[in-house]
Amino acid sequence: MKTAIIYASKHGTTGFVATEIKKRLNGDEVVMYNLNDQQRVELRPFDRIVIGSSIYAGTPLSKVRRFIEQNLVDLLQKQVGIFVCCMFFDKADEQINKGFPEVLRNHARSIKHLGGEFRFEEMNFIERSLVKKISGTRESVSSIKYETIDEFVREISAN
Ligand SMILES: Cc1cc2nc3c(=O)[nH]c(=O)nc-3n(C[C@H](O)[C@H](O)[C@H](O)COP(=O)(O)O)c2cc1C
Repeated sequence: MKTAIIYASKHGTTGFVATEIKKRLNGDEVVMYNLNDQQRVELRPFDRIVIGSSIYAGTPLSKVRRFIEQNLVDLLQKQVGIFVCCMFFDKADEQINKGFPEVLRNHARSIKHLGGEFRFEEMNFIERSLVKKISGTRESVSSIKYETIDEFVREISAN
């Protein structure tokens, strides 16, 4: 099984989670693509595509949304898993439903919120002020859902 993990990240959390998924897909040939470095990926060689994005202002990153728009027909021919990293846990499902096309959500083998982090050291001044104001958090915090990562990998790997 050949898998592509295609993701975008602002402060590194989604990349970290993508690597955790890769570690758990042992037995697969896995290639990771960061859409911050390249916007085009040749999907043909892959059987399975994992798409990951963090959420800002209620939506997935624009590079991920654009990638899906441009590759939707091809994605619907593959096994697909979708994950997001975000910090407003009670809004995660709503943000996923708004941010990914229904046809792709229906097609996906698994769609999960895998937790998130506030990495203050990576944020600019405006982001720091915003996060402090909205969440009341003043320090970096990590809330990665490792058990849900295990579950996600089980679901996308099931026969
Ligand atoms: C400026 C800012 C805005 C954010 N907006 C949201 C949001 O609307 N909803 C949410 O659930 N999380 C939000 N988050 C939390 C991020 O999704 C979370 O920090 C995520 O782990 C970042 O992943 P990344 O480093 O891969 O970009 C926001 C974080 C920042 C810094």
